[in-house]
Amino acid sequence: MISVGIIGGTGYTGKYLINFCNQHPNISDFKIYANKSAGKNLYDVFPEFHNNIKNVTIENISNLNFTHDVYFFALPHGESFKYIPKLIKQNKKIIDLGADYRLDSNEVFTSTYKLQHTSPELLKYKIYGLAEITKDYSKTNLVANPGCYPTAALLSTIPLVKNIPGKIETISTVSYSGLSGAGKKADTSLLFAENYNSVKAYNVGTHRHEVEIIQELNKYKPNTNYSLTTHLLPVFSGIYSTTIIHLNTTVTQVEVDNIFNTEYADSSFVRIRKTPPELKWVINTNYYDANIKALDNKIIVTACIDNLIKGASGQAVQNMNKLFNWDENLGIKN
Ligand SMILES: NC(=O)c1ccc[n+]([C@@H]2O[C@H](COP(=O)([O-])OP(=O)(O)OC[C@H]3O[C@@H](n4cnc5c(N)ncnc54)[C@H](OP(=O)(O)O)[C@@H]3O)[C@@H](O)[C@H]2O)c1
Repeated sequence: MISVGIIGGTGYTGKYLINFCNQHPNISDFKIYANKSAGKNLYDVFPEFHNNIKNVTIENISNLNFTHDVYFFALPHGESFKYIPKLIKQNKKIIDLGADYRLDSNEVFTSTYKLQHTSPELLKYKIYGLAEITKDYSKTNLVANPGCYPTAALLSTIPLVKNIPGKIETISTVSYSGLSGAGKKADTSLLFAENYNSVKAYNVGTHRHEVEIIQELNKYKPNTNYSLTTHLLPVFSGIYSTTIIHLNTTVTQVEVDNIFNTEYADSSFVRIRKTPPELKWVINTNYYDANIKALDNKIIVTACIDNLIKGASGQAVQNMNKLFNWDENLGIKN
């Protein structure tokens, strides 16, 4: 049995971390740490947990203790790296849901996040925890949980860049996210009233997740020609991700089905669908649902995930399970 620290447990992703840790059979206890919410009771922050989860006081992050075995970090970018190096020195296992350790290069981190990294040496020590793709968790105690858009986009494309890299010309993903993707912070442009009955693209050509996706695609196909275009959708959670892969030759449906079925043969959270998936099929689950269509010299992958679960907390717990060599479903599938 292990003890867990949930840092940033009062945010949108934190709420799911609390729920998953509470129902995880191998977690004996957990503490929740935050900033402005410190000193409040769990039931004040999340009344829906009343009588379902033991009430506790939210701890101040300045009192972060070293007694836990695993630490989930769900903080805004630039905050986690203030704490993680000290914990790594104490041999603790860390899963960071934020972006602080996702990129491999310090220069790319600085230019993308406009911040000086304070522990760039850990960028190479971490593993990028795309749970269906990452195989070896034995060499590190630091897992960088992928971003939400990258999770959907990479699960849709890695099987192809891995198996038919020479046939691919360009890859474009057009993605739609629910409003919770930006976290709990107050921002008028994210208000439901501002987004209801409407859809808009944002950060066109400049979204930071594009850099992260290209980094991972390049590991299979150097200099991948890739673009991500993101949109806001007036729903609470969910990411709908449509990826078009243009080829320099034709492929058959059988060839493409074989590639995806082989890649995800042992993946309990991947469901390959006969029709384009619908957001409501994956909300509140850790599933990635996808339909793959081969059309002569292009492939279209329509896919969806819950950004707060498969795109964040569910995958984070899946990564913890893999770090410990446990069944990847523990605590999440329910
Ligand atoms: N939302 C998503 O769909 C999603 C998906 C994948 C990854 N992520 C990443 O996961 C992380 C958390 O996202 P979120 O959506 O859960 O954010 P959020 O709803 O804004 O929650 C942020 C949490 O961090 C705490 N916090 C903020 N500033 C802090 C500080 N200076 N020191 C200590 N604690 C601080 C907040 O505590 P208080 O209550 O005290 O303010 C809160 O618990 C971010 O890095 C985000 O990019 C989010």
